[in-house]
Amino acid sequence: MKVEVLKLDNFGRGITYINDKICFIENALPNEVVEIEITKETNKFLEAKVDKYIEKSPLRIEEECPYSNVCGGCNLNHICFNDENRFKLNKVKDIMKKYASLDPNLVKGIIYHDRNSYRNKLILHGKDNDLGLYKENTNEIIPINNCLISNPKINEIIKVLNNTSKEISEVIIKTSNDNSKVMVKITGNIDNIDILKELCDVLIINNEYYTDNHVIETNIGSKKYIEGIDSFFQINNTLTKELYDEVLENVKDKKFNNVLDLYCGTGTIGIYVSEYVTEIIGIDYNKSNINDANKNKELNNINNISFICDKVENKINEFNDIDLVIVDPPRAGLDIKTKNYLKEINPERIIYVSCDPITLARDIKDLDTYKVNYIKVFNMFPRTYHCESIAILEKIEGEVYG
Ligand SMILES: C[S@@+](CC[C@H](N)C(=O)[O-])C[C@H]1O[C@@H](n2cnc3c(N)ncnc32)[C@H](O)[C@@H]1O
Repeated sequence: MKVEVLKLDNFGRGITYINDKICFIENALPNEVVEIEITKETNKFLEAKVDKYIEKSPLRIEEECPYSNVCGGCNLNHICFNDENRFKLNKVKDIMKKYASLDPNLVKGIIYHDRNSYRNKLILHGKDNDLGLYKENTNEIIPINNCLISNPKINEIIKVLNNTSKEISEVIIKTSNDNSKVMVKITGNIDNIDILKELCDVLIINNEYYTDNHVIETNIGSKKYIEGIDSFFQINNTLTKELYDEVLENVKDKKFNNVLDLYCGTGTIGIYVSEYVTEIIGIDYNKSNINDANKNKELNNINNISFICDKVENKINEFNDIDLVIVDPPRAGLDIKTKNYLKEINPERIIYVSCDPITLARDIKDLDTYKVNYIKVFNMFPRTYHCESIAILEKIEGEVYG
């Protein structure tokens, strides 16, 4: 079937309508005329793939990655970086207008660094002697020898593993942001452990440590952080500093006393801003994160921060007299209980770091005793449709919740 693509959706897919039903087409750009094959049909929508490009968009570029459209990792390889950034900025503006009734001009711009070699973490899957990434929406392994968006050290490890006889079900590779340290966790069996022992600062095979080190260290700004294999760490090796600096700017401009750092991971943001506030409490439900957060507190000689290992929604009702709350939840955003207690706690400012603009917009709408000062977009995940945003929310004077 021949169709014309009308626009892009929030996931970077082309949109057209077939008999008034919306149809999402992978790897299709506005104004392109394409022959499609329907791959899924529901009552509400269709999904399709392109069989043939009849008229291509002038915006389409040659795809650099040999695994493009196969591995399921990056879905914006067919547009240039400028267009990708424009797409993400406009997407956040549209979402804020549509779901939070916000003036799109409150979205102040997009910050970006490198398009390639930015990832400090990669998970590979294996079967028999193959090691690679899953084909989109399947468990089929696409063997890879190089990942364009990953740090060079990650690609070095992939090559070593590919040249070794093995039977591995999973490999997690993490590097420090300056690419000097590498940590590898293998589940399965591998022939030549000695080569890996030489290359890795931390090597774990089937949960056994083969190195004295159990963590790697990374600098962000003036702070040092360690992370273990199971801990959360922002995956962009240069832009994380810009993200944290944006938070810092909004902590420094007033004297805040009591601060909550919710969904704190390894304590990175709280520690980053600690010298500008009186006291901070970080909360995260992951034990490994909180263990590392406590080590990070010591590593940086910080005395005014403490961490709680629990779900935010279990603890949020225990706080009052808080003047600043920083939140950085997973994609699902904030749950209703947390939002209601945030409104009750009524801090002067909420700094919301978000990896999903749709849940951010929903939460901004629900936090209706706050007004948005501004939102900034960070392209932390180039070549994919994902982006990070920071929203600065200020208490509306005179508004009392309840
Ligand atoms: C996007 S990460 C943010 C981490 C940190 N702020 C950073 O910049 O590295 C989200 C964190 O939320 C934690 N998390 C997810 N759901 C949670 C919940 N209900 N309660 C507490 N922590 C949660 C995860 O363990 C993860 O560390």
